[in-house]
Amino acid sequence: MSETRETGIEALLRLRGSTRGYLPDAVPRADVERILQAARRAPSGANLQPGRFHALSGAPLKALGAELIAASQAGREIVSEYSYFPPQMGEALKAKQRAAGYALYAALGIAKRDLAGRRAQFDLNYAFFDAPVGIVVTIDRAMGKGCFMDLGMALMALQLAATDLGYGCCGIGALANYGDLVAEHLGLPIDEMVVCGLALGRADPQAAVNGFETARDPLDAFAQFQGFED
Ligand SMILES: Cc1cc2nc3c(=O)[nH]c(=O)nc-3n(C[C@H](O)[C@H](O)[C@H](O)COP(=O)(O)O)c2cc1C
Repeated sequence: MSETRETGIEALLRLRGSTRGYLPDAVPRADVERILQAARRAPSGANLQPGRFHALSGAPLKALGAELIAASQAGREIVSEYSYFPPQMGEALKAKQRAAGYALYAALGIAKRDLAGRRAQFDLNYAFFDAPVGIVVTIDRAMGKGCFMDLGMALMALQLAATDLGYGCCGIGALANYGDLVAEHLGLPIDEMVVCGLALGRADPQAAVNGFETARDPLDAFAQFQGFED
């Protein structure tokens, strides 16, 4: 190995984790702008830079969250404008999904059979986990699948920039469940599709929901090597 010291980016990647419990402290607009500009440094095919970011705070964020939670509680049908997960999940993927869900609910002390508790926790997605900032992420619906890679890079850059500034954040794919409502609420142009949301703010160190770590596959499960001399 050429260098065993942990690099800055490795430390940042280790430090980042999804934050679902926030302090109410406001996030200055200048910090949000800085984080979004860092996100825009991400590479993209042909430098198309797909993806738009609608940053909300204060009353506009509360109003959106309230409308989405009301829709969920009224049993409104979910829209799926794009497929996130495979329609048929194999056993290995299902096991990962279960493990992620179990770790979350275990940290909160919500029992497996407590469907109301799970539902209430799930609805917090729609309120951006009560974070002081919620970002709605959209893409031009005419973009190709590859552009989702580009957007993913920007989302990663955004999360690392936020982490480096001492903020917590969490991707919220669940927001796309009501992407049509979000678009209507924000008055988005017809060509913009809601991909996900992002919560952003100072992590609440007392929040149990922030107190678990997710596992990762070991290297030999996802990478193969050929032609190396050592
Ligand atoms: C695009 C994206 C969408 C996500 N959507 C949700 C979501 O809707 N609700 C949620 O609680 N977590 C969501 N997450 C967080 C993942 O569950 C989390 O990244 C994963 O379990 C790994 O944990 P870690 O981020 O703490 O390392 C999302 C993450 C990403 C990148």
